[in-house]
Amino acid sequence: MLTNAQARDVQSVLHPYTNLIKFRESGPMVIERGEGVRVYDDQGKDYIEAMAGLWCTALGWGDNELAETAAEQMRKLAFGHLFGGKSHEPAIALAEKLKELAPFPVGKVFFANSGSEANDTQIKLYWYASNARGTPQKKKIISRIKAYHGVTLASASLTGLPGNHRSFDLPLGFALHADCPHFYRGAEAGESETQFSARLAKNLEAMIEREGPDTIAAMIAEPILGAGGVILPPEGYFDAITRVLDRHAIPLIDDEVITGFGRTGNWFGCATYGFEPESMSIAKALSSAYLPISAVLLSPELSEVIEQESGKIGTFGHGFTYGGHPVSAAVALKTLEIYQARDLVGHVRHVAPLFQKRLRAFATHPLVGEAAGIGLIGAVELVANKERKQNFEPSKQVGAMMARLCESEGLIVRPLLGDRIAFCPPLVINEPEIAELFDRFERALAKCLDWVTREKILVA
Ligand SMILES: Cc1ncc(COP(=O)(O)O)c(C=O)c1O
Repeated sequence: MLTNAQARDVQSVLHPYTNLIKFRESGPMVIERGEGVRVYDDQGKDYIEAMAGLWCTALGWGDNELAETAAEQMRKLAFGHLFGGKSHEPAIALAEKLKELAPFPVGKVFFANSGSEANDTQIKLYWYASNARGTPQKKKIISRIKAYHGVTLASASLTGLPGNHRSFDLPLGFALHADCPHFYRGAEAGESETQFSARLAKNLEAMIEREGPDTIAAMIAEPILGAGGVILPPEGYFDAITRVLDRHAIPLIDDEVITGFGRTGNWFGCATYGFEPESMSIAKALSSAYLPISAVLLSPELSEVIEQESGKIGTFGHGFTYGGHPVSAAVALKTLEIYQARDLVGHVRHVAPLFQKRLRAFATHPLVGEAAGIGLIGAVELVANKERKQNFEPSKQVGAMMARLCESEGLIVRPLLGDRIAFCPPLVINEPEIAELFDRFERALAKCLDWVTREKILVA
């Protein structure tokens, strides 16, 4: 029986990432408020938000400093834009701060509102630059199977997940998808992680040679594939693929929309995995998701090429009304100041060992095929047969069932493709909260084992 709010929602809201037919029966979980790492539904039930919303609310809920900053900026200058030579202090100061924090030399910062917009911008900038350099055939962008780069037409084309393509007539032809670097699923018998990485790099090189290196504008990669299943790069992976890219002078776009700002125990995922990009997309934790804002950080050389081309054409014909919005920019700047003042990266390093210990302990559970993570991100993959790494039938929706069982225990997780359950809690989570998170998960997993046993969907 739906509550009043649920029934009203079902009548009027079109929900993203939802089976909209099943949803007519189930209705939504209506969240009313949040405090720290917890949110409360409209029935007063509390949940540990082990996904920081959508991998984004790094400071958790109810941070007063951010609320005050937003209110103050809204009173001072509620709107301002960056078109046609206008600017405002919050955007200027934020761009400066991002240049200071960036793990590679940055010339200019371009502001947008979402990860998808940032990645769409990346594609357009590389196309613009290819034309500027007199290499107009250089337009293809390499992404990877199971990558997630957003849902707008171009960024969804880079995304390598069937659910984002089917019935949308995607991907568009410029996007190429290289191998997914999932060792647990993709390794051949007896292959080490380094050998697996070397094989994938070889396949990447074959793809580049097949397509023609002079047709490829860039490769885009998340340091950790997030929505595709929280897939960590195997040993030596970025080293191997960046060597291939360097050989063919193909720049690397680093999508740090999830991994930016401390998630992996460093300010940026590229530092954790030891590579240096030509440009970077950031969003989510940039403002702890208190307001929408994203940015593209560009190397000095790429910035210069784009500026020169705009001089030739007479304009840089790209930009969003709300790109660099003063209230979002002020909140983002305050967020970054808080990260530094509270040494959030140090905090992540301090609590990550407990988080990883509890997470990886599930690897011995009969339902779990893989339990892996780094810093404060990770996933557990549920399997029908542990020895043979056999997945459950997708129609059985075991991951979705597990997420519901977690919710009944007061825990919000996210089921991803292949019954992988993701964890990505607010970075401010403390050790007792981590213990409680995994205690709740453990109880839900026991119930899930009962359920799959009752349903006879384990495979002998
Ligand atoms: C790595 C990555 N890139 C891009 C996006 C798209 O961001 P948005 O949903 O803000 O458009 C996401 C969203 O989850 C993401 O995880």
